Amino acid sequence: MDWGMKNRLSKIIRPETGRTVMLAVDHGYFLGPTTGLQEPGKTIAPLLPYADTLMLTRGVLRACVNPATDIPIVLRVSGGTSILGNLADEGTTVSMKDALRLNVAGIALSIFVGSELERKTLLALAELVNEGEEHGVPVLAVTAVGKEMARDARYLGLACRIAAELGAHYVKTYYCDDFEKVVKNCPVPVVIAGGKKIPEKDALKLSFDAVSHGAIGVDMGRNIFQSTHPVAMIRTVREIVHNNLPLKEAYDMFDTLSREKETVFA
Ligand code: R5P
Repeated sequence: MDWGMKNRLSKIIRPETGRTVMLAVDHGYFLGPTTGLQEPGKTIAPLLPYADTLMLTRGVLRACVNPATDIPIVLRVSGGTSILGNLADEGTTVSMKDALRLNVAGIALSIFVGSELERKTLLALAELVNEGEEHGVPVLAVTAVGKEMARDARYLGLACRIAAELGAHYVKTYYCDDFEKVVKNCPVPVVIAGGKKIPEKDALKLSFDAVSHGAIGVDMGRNIFQSTHPVAMIRTVREIVHNNLPLKEAYDMFDTLSREKETVFA
């Protein structure tokens, strides 16, 4: 791995702990102005000090994030479909040239293993890895799960392993029973998505269980920015991910922080 690739990866995965808290705010690329992200800039600003990385699209990055920020960017470069259409029919939406111009730390795309379009999305991943290797840019493969797919260790293990085999530098997937098998069978680091909004304590447990079973962190969106207390949530998730904060203490931390005043955009 060359210096540029290692340097970018070290901006995403903190070298001190080998872990990462990625703040995912890319949902508008297929969901439009989803709850909590109607005005992305306002949602993102108070959370940035507690995120290691911001995952978002080119449009929101340019329009809503101050270029003077030092937050490393993982840019979503797949899209072209909406919640009203066939999500698996995504294509690559950003050239490597533009990603480099935007000074990203990494790029991300979804793969749809098991869908009728799996070949197209997997070859798009392979092509992005080729370009990433050429320019020293790590690629995050997002294992998207269609409605018909089970979110179990067998399916997620298959999707993560294929992503790694095709050269993804790290993989985002969902937490599931027997998650340690997914991690063990995937030769590159794994982060988990948060998924749909659930009660805060459940989302903290999800984060705790994921890192306890081998994830190197989270790429979490709705369970942070749709929380009644987004800052309290990301700060507590951060302690779990980087400092292995035990669950009981995490609940107490969230309760204490959630009594502090913060602006909610949900
Ligand atoms: C979904 O396709 C997006 O890539 C999100 O970034 C990802 O699902 C993580 O966000 P959440 O924690 O809201 O699931």
